[in-house]
Amino acid sequence: MTTDSKTIPATLIAGDGIGPEIVESVTEILDTVGAPFVWDRQLAGMAGVDAVNDPLPKQTIESIRRTGLALKGPLTTPVGGGFKSINVTLRQEFGLFANLRPTKTIIPGGRFDDIDLVLFRENLEGYYAAMEHYIPVGDDPKGIALSSGFNSRAECRRIVKFAFEYAVKNNRKTVTIVHKANILKLLTGLFLEEGRKVAEEYKGRIEFNERIVDACAMQLVINPWQFDVIVTTNLFGDILSDLTAGLVGGLGMAPGANIGEKAAVFEAVHGSAPDIAGKGIANPLALLLAAVMMLRHVNRNDLADRIDAGIKKVITNGTVRTKDLGGNATTKDLTAALKQAVA
Ligand code: NAI
Repeated sequence: MTTDSKTIPATLIAGDGIGPEIVESVTEILDTVGAPFVWDRQLAGMAGVDAVNDPLPKQTIESIRRTGLALKGPLTTPVGGGFKSINVTLRQEFGLFANLRPTKTIIPGGRFDDIDLVLFRENLEGYYAAMEHYIPVGDDPKGIALSSGFNSRAECRRIVKFAFEYAVKNNRKTVTIVHKANILKLLTGLFLEEGRKVAEEYKGRIEFNERIVDACAMQLVINPWQFDVIVTTNLFGDILSDLTAGLVGGLGMAPGANIGEKAAVFEAVHGSAPDIAGKGIANPLALLLAAVMMLRHVNRNDLADRIDAGIKKVITNGTVRTKDLGGNATTKDLTAALKQAVA
């Protein structure tokens, strides 16, 4: 437990692309409410490569090991080659097994009002283990591309249990396990098998149901209100959480937390947005909402509530919105409005 006056060391990674712009915005807002974090600024991603020729410098890893807490801007990952995703490496290095992605309507009057659901994505296994190789066919060294995934019984159990515990603590009613056990009978069948066992332990307290991932995607669009807490495997969770972000205004509004036994890393769901980097128009709200989750993680619900209320006030007012939210405000305009609203 933290007290109001206690400072909390935390690692801050500005990241790539729009990362530094939105991180600056968020730290200014955190400062305005007197958040307890004392930042240890570290590098990762292309910024790490440029500075010290390492996408995940040792100092960054040591910092997170020391603080057990990080706020991270998005990191650029080269597509189809280059270094392995730093996000994936961080999750593996610190055993950040649970990826928590809440989706809540903040902007009223959208296509979907009153959305309030939480998606838990298994973060360490599945196809994101990325055990891939090519098999040559004739003259073509890349004739066949092969990828293997794995799910362990222990990890399936841990993530589903984490989702049920969250449901209990946060007065949620239903947990839905999402799988593809009709086709990937072993890989996601094990997830479902273990999930059903965990669900049995919560019988009478938390309702449980199960959905096949493709049907779930459709139902999330047709009737998202039927969902409360969703728990699923790595790849499905990655895709479905972008879908759920789309229900409430897109990636600019979607925060995420990666939680392990000894460390937690908070970030926006979106990437480094190279198409708008440096233009000063990035929406900082997803990272700000991640910072709100971080405040709740360290039991500073008072400050989290204040920022939540400030976001709601500014966004509902509607005059200061970035381009992705249909407005023409800059990052700085929105930051100024938010600082005023939370002060
Ligand atoms: P992206 O999320 O960076 O961008 C997708 C679209 O959403 C773009 O049009 C972008 O301008 C817009 N967008 C994203 N965040 C926004 C914001 N805060 N405000 C306004 N508009 C925003 O996805 P993309 O382009 O596929 O990936 C770019 C890079 O980011 C890649 O290298 C990818 O690997 C990396 N990435 C990193 C993540 C992380 O660090 N957690 C997560 C996802 C992607």
